[in-house]
Amino acid sequence: MNDGRNAARKPLLVLNNVCKNFGGVVAAKNISLEIFGGEVVGLIGPNGAGKTTLINLITGVYKVSDGTMVFGGKDITKLPVYKRARDGIGRTFQHPHLLDRCDVWTNIIMGSDMAARKGSKAEVEKELPEILDCCGMKNINLNAPLSELSYGQQKLLEVVRVLLSHPSLLLLDEPAAGLNNRETQYVAELIRYAVKQGIGVLLIEHSMELVMSICDRITVLNFGQQIATGVPDEIQNNQEVITAYLGGGDDDADD
Ligand SMILES: Nc1ncnc2c1ncn2[C@@H]1O[C@H](COP(=O)(O)OP(=O)(O)O)[C@@H](O)[C@H]1O
Ligand SMILES: [Mg+2]
Repeated sequence: MNDGRNAARKPLLVLNNVCKNFGGVVAAKNISLEIFGGEVVGLIGPNGAGKTTLINLITGVYKVSDGTMVFGGKDITKLPVYKRARDGIGRTFQHPHLLDRCDVWTNIIMGSDMAARKGSKAEVEKELPEILDCCGMKNINLNAPLSELSYGQQKLLEVVRVLLSHPSLLLLDEPAAGLNNRETQYVAELIRYAVKQGIGVLLIEHSMELVMSICDRITVLNFGQQIATGVPDEIQNNQEVITAYLGGGDDDADD
């Protein structure tokens, strides 16, 4: 991975003291974070810590209660969802958002259409085999109904699809949840593909093997608070993180 903290480079995304309250629930409290192009930042913490909320704040699904967000040098704090997507913020969901009743190809092409940053159909056709090859899906039948793909393949397909829309920032919400070891390796391959393109990746994941092996830096949330940010070694040895999350034994990847 790159050294994303190279001082000469400008961060792709900067969060400054971002806060989000839902009534009395503090889902994000003064979160400050930078993501550079070509680096992978992990976002970990127990269920309910505020990880998905942060993705929803960055994409504009939720409005911040306080704080600012700068993307590509531009203040996006008040921009609507579609403008952020158009500017290059791509995401996937904890549970894949695919069209169950359409075939695989329709899902791919519709997704990159909706991202408003699509290449032409010809460009998608050119790039698709390489990306599918990355995640062990080069032999899938694109004309088959989506239901012929396993759950793991559907989750991988969602990552493939967002990559085809060429985001500059990619927000992945538990891409390996429910996947077996092999499929989890394919998630890693897709992330490496993204990094090679210079994409900045925010990775929410409970698979510590994946997080610790692929992230340049990691931020830990607990009850909406940012309890630590550092390189994987620092995070693994941080007592507060061990107490709040790593040592807890509850590694269930859902909420
Ligand atoms: N739309 C919402 N309305 C009310 N509370 C919400 C909403 N979205 C998330 N929350 C609350 O915010 C907290 C953080 O949730 P979430 O971001 O989904 O956590 P995580 O992804 O870390 O498991 C939880 O207490 C959750 O119930
Ligand atoms: Mg979540």
